[in-house]
Amino acid sequence: MTGKFITLEGMDGAGKSTHIPSIIEALQARGYEVVSTREPGGTPLGERLRELLLHEPMHAETETLLMFAARREHIANVIEPALVRGAYVLSDRFTDATYAYQCGAKGVAASKIQMLEQWVQADLQPDITLLFDVPVEVSMQRLSAARTPDKFEREAADFFTRIRYAYLQRAQQNPARFRIIDANMPLGIVDKSVKDIIATL
Ligand code: TMP
Repeated sequence: MTGKFITLEGMDGAGKSTHIPSIIEALQARGYEVVSTREPGGTPLGERLRELLLHEPMHAETETLLMFAARREHIANVIEPALVRGAYVLSDRFTDATYAYQCGAKGVAASKIQMLEQWVQADLQPDITLLFDVPVEVSMQRLSAARTPDKFEREAADFFTRIRYAYLQRAQQNPARFRIIDANMPLGIVDKSVKDIIATL
C-alpha cells in the first residue's frame, strides 16, 4: 500500500469535523487524491448500520459487533482500495473510537475489541491519528446551552470523562501514531496546528 491513512478522533463537541475541509484542501493542493469518509458509515451498508447504531437502543457488545461489521465493509470497499491507489484516506473516526466509547465508557472488555480488531483489520492501522482534546465541560457546553446539570447531564459528564480518559490512554500507548491537538484554543490556532501536522505527512 502506498497511500496514507489519517484518522480524526475526539469526544463529541471537540470540533474535529470542522477541520475536514481545510485538511482536504491542504492535501489536494499538494496533488494528492483525498478520500474523505467516516465511521460508523462510509459505505451504503455502513450508513444504514450507522442509522441503527445512533438511534436504536442496544447492548454495548451488539454495538461493538455492528461497529466492526460496518468497519469490515468500509475497509474492503473504501479504505484498502484507496490506499492501494496511493490516495490519502481521511476518516472521521475509526477503531480508537470503539476503544474510547464501547470499552472506555461502556465497559466492553478490551480483549474482545482486540480480537475483532485483529480479525477485521489484520495489520491495517492509521498512519496518523489527530486527537482533538477538550476538557469535558467545554465539550458539554458546546453540545448544549450551559446551565446547572440535571441527573442525566451529570451521568453524561461521567460518560464523557471516561471517553476522554480512554482516548488519552490510547494516545499514550501509541505515541508514534497520535498527535494530540488542544481543541480548546481559538479556531484559527487549532486550524494552524492541524495544518502544521498535515504538512509533515
Ligand atoms: P460522529 O458524531 O463523530 O459522527 O460519531 C457518531 C457517534 O458514534 C459518536 O457519538 C461516537 C460513536 N462511535 C462509537 O461509539 N464507536 C465507534 O467505534 C465509532 C466509530 C463511533
